[in-house]
Amino acid sequence: MSALPNFELHDLKPAVADFRREVLAGLAASPRRIAPKFFYDAAGSHLFDAITRQPEYYPTRTEIGLLRAHGVEIAERLGRQAALIELGSGSDIKIRCLLDALRPAEYLPLDISLDHLRDSASGIARDYPQVRVRATCVDYTREFPLPPIAPEAHRVVFYPGSSVGNFEPADVRDLLRWVAGMVGPGGRLLIGVDLKKDLARLNAAYNDAAGVTAAFNCNVLTRMAKELDAQLNVEDFGHHAFYNEALGRIEMHLRAQRATCIEIAGQRFDFAEGEGIHTENSYKYSEEEFGALAASVGFVTEQVWCDAERLFSVHCLRVGALS
Ligand code: AVJ
Repeated sequence: MSALPNFELHDLKPAVADFRREVLAGLAASPRRIAPKFFYDAAGSHLFDAITRQPEYYPTRTEIGLLRAHGVEIAERLGRQAALIELGSGSDIKIRCLLDALRPAEYLPLDISLDHLRDSASGIARDYPQVRVRATCVDYTREFPLPPIAPEAHRVVFYPGSSVGNFEPADVRDLLRWVAGMVGPGGRLLIGVDLKKDLARLNAAYNDAAGVTAAFNCNVLTRMAKELDAQLNVEDFGHHAFYNEALGRIEMHLRAQRATCIEIAGQRFDFAEGEGIHTENSYKYSEEEFGALAASVGFVTEQVWCDAERLFSVHCLRVGALS
């Protein structure tokens, strides 16, 4: 592909040393855990895309339906010619639902998965030559330099997919404050939030019959073997996902199906049968709960779009009085 004049890629991808350090700390912790951001190497990103096509996994297709149905209204709310920042962009399908109506001056996607980001962001630069695309591969949960945006630019953040569900509610407040600081007073955030619903539907979405979510969960072990030279047997671990109703979240674990061990960098972690590694939380909210969380850090809810079954919601929030 020839160089695109309107495309830049900044590579701030976390180093293998960061992955090793976080895995060692997480396996030494009690209960054991590995953060979900580590799912997304190239293989993990492909598995995630495959999850979004499973009949049981309703969030992606429902959110895309909302963006398609209400794109013009959403664009009117957000305003044209913006500097549009997208968090955890991954695939480009969602932003493409908005670009024609939104006509941003520039598009700044942030994602931890380098290959995925390069493909999707360069595709947008190619198809929208009038939009300046500056992509950054980064773990956005840590401090990092955003490409410089003109101070007078009108900024908008798009955070789709209910990735916000991966954060503890207390951490969501820090994340929302960071976004508020980015867009400034009066700036807007468009965010996808998965809704609370009946247990069977939630459990099925994270236990698809084809076993794609199981493969996605186990992929982090494969990645540890490959990148950290970890000694482990992937087959010793099984996918375990369930809705924790008291805490309002899906939990995913990798559970030892027999006594086994993992060795990394000379450290050995023993697992009794049934012992696990907690790999993901995916919090679900009611529309009101999420609105209250946003309000607690100074966001005003301008509009919420939901599908008829009330499976998924897209919120347009505006930074009011900062707190
Ligand atoms: C990308 C975090 C929104 O929580 O539904 C899908 C990830 N994990 N199936 C979600 C995921 C298992 C997904 N998010």
